[in-house]
This record gives sequence, C-alpha cells and structure tokens, in this order.
Amino acid sequence: MGAHKVLVVGGGGREHSLCLALNNSVMVERLYCAPGNAGTASIASNIDISPTDVDRIVDFCIKSNIDLVVVGPEAPLCESLADRLIAANIACFGPVAELAELEGSKLHAKQIMSEVGVPTAGFQILKNVENIDAALNDFSQNPWVIKRDVLAGGKGVLVTTDRSEAKSFITNAIQTDGKVLLEEFLPGQEASMLVVMDGSGFVCLPPSQDHKRAYDGDLGPNTGGMGAYCPAPIVTKSVHEKVISRIVRPMFEHLSKMTTPYRGVLYVGLMITESGDPNVVEFNVRFGDPECQITLPLIKTDLFTILHSASTDTLSSLQVEFHDAHALTIVLASEGYPNQPIKGRVVEGISAKQANIALESSWVNHAGTKLVENKIIANGGRVLSCSAMSKTLSGAAILAYELIETITLEGGHYRSDIGGQILGVNR
Ligand code: AMP
Ligand code: GLY
Repeated sequence: MGAHKVLVVGGGGREHSLCLALNNSVMVERLYCAPGNAGTASIASNIDISPTDVDRIVDFCIKSNIDLVVVGPEAPLCESLADRLIAANIACFGPVAELAELEGSKLHAKQIMSEVGVPTAGFQILKNVENIDAALNDFSQNPWVIKRDVLAGGKGVLVTTDRSEAKSFITNAIQTDGKVLLEEFLPGQEASMLVVMDGSGFVCLPPSQDHKRAYDGDLGPNTGGMGAYCPAPIVTKSVHEKVISRIVRPMFEHLSKMTTPYRGVLYVGLMITESGDPNVVEFNVRFGDPECQITLPLIKTDLFTILHSASTDTLSSLQVEFHDAHALTIVLASEGYPNQPIKGRVVEGISAKQANIALESSWVNHAGTKLVENKIIANGGRVLSCSAMSKTLSGAAILAYELIETITLEGGHYRSDIGGQILGVNR
C-alpha cells in the first residue's frame, strides 16, 4: 500500500486513460490532472494549468508535495519539464529535454538512428528552394514523404504523389523552418511499440496498431489517430525479436548511457516490410494517443509501480505481467476534424457510471471534452473514444461499436472499420 500523490500532465484521451489506471492503484492516494478534461474531473482533481506552463507546474508540484509526475504530451518535455522536476527532486515519468529531441527533431532522430545502427528510411535535407525539383526527381519512384523538422502537432508530415502539393509543402517548410526532410517511402504495415525505459532496463508493452487516416478504408487526411487495437498480430514473435535486437536494445544501450538516462516511454513507430523486417518511421517520447487507451488495460501489474520504477531507474527489478486479452478503441471526432473541428456542441449519451475496465466490458475515454453546467461539451477535434476489452479482438470490436452507437454528437464522425483489416469485416 502507498500514499502517493501523482500529477498527470495533459488533457486528452491518453491522460484520461492514465488517470483511470492510476485511480485503480492502491499506491495512489491523491490524483491530479493538469488541465484534464470532463472525464478526469470525476476521478482526479483537475488543475487549471497549461501543460507547457512549466514554471506553474513545478511550483504546483512543490507546494502539493507531488511524488510522481506523469507527462502525457511531448511539448512540456521538449520545454524541460523533466529537467526542472528532477532538479526539484520530484520523480518524473518522461525524458529530459535533450532526449525528448528524439521527437522534437526528426533530423536529430535520424542522426541518432544512424549512429546506433537502427533501420530507418534514407533521407535528404533540403534547405534551398532552388533544389526542390532535383530532390523530388531523386525520390520519384514512390510517393514523396516530406517531414518538417519541428513539433507540428501531427501536421508536419506529407505523403503524396502530387508534385505540386509536394513542392508547395516543401517551399512553405523551408520558408518557415529553414529546412525540410525528404524521406524514402517505406512500403509495409505500420505498428506501434511502446517501450517503458529507464537507466536500468526496458519493458516492451504489447504492440498495437493505430488507424491514422480520417475515413474508412484508410482514406482522407492524416489525423492524430482515429482508433486502435492491441495486440497487433502483424508483430509476430519473429518480428518482435527483430524489433528488440535491431531497434529497442541499441536505443536502450545509447539512451541509458546519457548523463540523465531516458526515463519514460519510447514510442517506436514501425513500418514492417512484407518480409517481416521492421524499420523505424518515427520515435515519440510519450504514450501514443489512442494507443495508450488500449495498451494500459492489458497491463496486469500496478501502473503506478511501473511508472514510478521507470522514473527512479529501478525498472529492471520489476516483473511486468499482461492480460491475455484484446482491446480496441474507436475515436469520435468533431465535425471538420482534422482540419477545422467545430467545438462547443453537446455530447449526449455518456453514462455517468465509473468506467469498468475489465474483460468483456466497454468504457468511454474522454479526450476533448469539458463540463459546462453539468453538460459534456465537445472541446476539441478528437472528443472521446469508446474502448472495450475482450478475450477476442472481434469481441472487443462488437462491444466498442455497441457503445459508440449510444453516444450522439451533432456532426460527429468515427471510422466503422477499426480492426477491420484483421477481422476481415467492413461494417
Ligand atoms: P510520422 O509523423 O513520421 O509518423 O509520419 C506520419 C505518417 O506518415 C506515418 O504514420 C506513416 O503513415 C507515414 N509515413 C511517414 N514516414 C513514412 C515513410 N518513410 N514511408 C511511408 N510512409 C511514411
Ligand atoms: N497515434 C499516434 C501518436 O500518438 O503519435
């Protein structure tokens, strides 16, 4: 038993799922969330501080005797939140700014991957608009993959076969950021591997698969993620072993040698070729959203203990166990998402009863929601997601779809084919 005070930083679906799991921990006495959402409000104390207001967060933690800070989004990490908390002797789940650059700068991530020998797509850096045509010609066999070298909130990557679209994206990026990356196109299937890591060791959580395009059949614009399921069968035992030996272990060897080792979760975005060889598409320095919502429920071991161990370099002494089950989540997005989501509409049909995260059950993960006069209002692009856990993936899909059909939001949209590639169904 413990009497720990925990602050979760962020206010999306990922943070609601972290709060749900931490709220179930006997180790947690008091749970805070900054700024939180309508879902976290019922299980934690929402604190009205922006995740990037590092000064106020550190101040709050000192005054409230916080024992552990769990950082959801990447931006506060890039702005030195972990460095500042460590200096104040507060355990932080999330890496220091220098290591958060793995997500903050795609170019930096490429350089580290090349240094430690991790497989990833070849690339060119473009700094001069006069060189665009020649560079596009060099990569013209496949769709062009263009990446900005800044944190762009999911809008920094363009994959296109349209030359004029490619040119205008590159031109804008060079004008705004001074450079842009042009990357070799990797064919294959994507999967996400969340690896909890500290200076002593690492634990791979069950791999998952996200659905990034807005509409059914993987059509429409890229989004933050429209739904996900876990585990992902594309990551077979043999692929898993290759991911560990070629990617995770070399990264751990590198990151654990730093002055302050990596403490947090390393999100490995994978592209798996037809022959089962994994390549890194991206690293993130945080839990994926919505991957977090369907990965945490599959962890049997107490979440506070895992996150606290990883913040204090004691992970290697912990045995982490998982449920033999499947989880799936479907995101309900506002009209206009991802381009111009309409906010302020009422969400109806969400049960007030506490989420019951257990086998053969379903629950709501709040994301962009807020409470106004006891009404739940859509306050973001991704409003909520309906999640379920079952012995089978199809069981989880049935439960999650049954739940989402009971919720109404004017203009709201969700994909009807989450998990469909595996289940072979087209709803
Ligand atoms: P990123 O933000 O780097 O994960 O890129 C966003 C999305 O673009 C990924 O989830 C992939 O679907 C796609 N993508 C990124 N890099 C590549 C690549 N080298 N080859 C193919 N698709 C890619
Ligand atoms: N779902 C993708 C991400 O969190 O980056």
